[in-house]
Amino acid sequence: MRPRLQIHIRLLVKIFLYSINATQKFCNTDLTQIVTPNTRAAVIKAVIMSTNADNKTNIKNPDSGAYKKIYKLAPSMLAADFTNLGRDVGAIEAAGAHYLHIDVMDGVFVNNISFGLPVIERVRKISRLVFDVHLMIVEPSRYIEAFANAGADIINVHAEASPRPIEDLRQIKSLGKIPALTIKPDTPAEDIYGYLPYTDMVLVMSVEPGFGGQAFLAHTLKKAEQLANHIAVNNLGIDIEMDGGIGFNNLKDVLSAGVNVIVAGSSVFRSRNVGGSVRAFYDFFNDFVD
Ligand code: DX5
Ligand code: ZN
Repeated sequence: MRPRLQIHIRLLVKIFLYSINATQKFCNTDLTQIVTPNTRAAVIKAVIMSTNADNKTNIKNPDSGAYKKIYKLAPSMLAADFTNLGRDVGAIEAAGAHYLHIDVMDGVFVNNISFGLPVIERVRKISRLVFDVHLMIVEPSRYIEAFANAGADIINVHAEASPRPIEDLRQIKSLGKIPALTIKPDTPAEDIYGYLPYTDMVLVMSVEPGFGGQAFLAHTLKKAEQLANHIAVNNLGIDIEMDGGIGFNNLKDVLSAGVNVIVAGSSVFRSRNVGGSVRAFYDFFNDFVD
């Protein structure tokens, strides 16, 4: 073979081998490296707009010390299309939702089983949303660390499910996560007053926990209002989230009660236009504030 031709062939083989190597490297890229804990922390920091030492997700006025509410939407993954989970989660993220609400059910605390750690770990790899994990499980302390490691950012424990809520809330905080305390529709607000200094959010259930797509229980509005007043009078700056049966028919009542974090399952993921529905919620929030 002529020496010149030999050089050409060697060069072509080199290019070929290099491209195979590069393709392999790309295919082996671990997506967890793209959404690192650090980038997530930055996202959470952006959501937690006040970088107050107290870690609240509302803005604190440095002069008066009073809090200004930030309205946030938390679409509930339970109503998503599980055969197209990545697409649905991507759609709410692109449309600007703050949180992804994730309902974990154990078949004991509630009469249903949903999904658990492996699903959250997988979704964590494709999303930078703040994960608002609602644990409907007995003795949540057994799993708090595991959910923190799986990618939860906010961890909600039920007051009715936990033998020691203060310890649980402290543990969540010590893991660098946002602690939240949840109550069922018939649990009185006074039952949790003593726990409020240890939590950054209260989640008031407006349906019996366990299933999506249920009718909104209007009597829970009074309780939300009572909690909102208590929080305002004591300037605690805690978020109030409401979960279950919320849509555009009752959203004004919910916001008027003082709720500032809205969980919406069916009204987001079962709508024809998932992203459009997220944007419509935020438009509604803006009109409400004006
Ligand atoms: C019920 C869950 C809710 C539910 C809300 O146990 O906690 O988060 O997914 O779904 P919708 O908005 O459809 O009532
Ligand atoms: Zn929920």
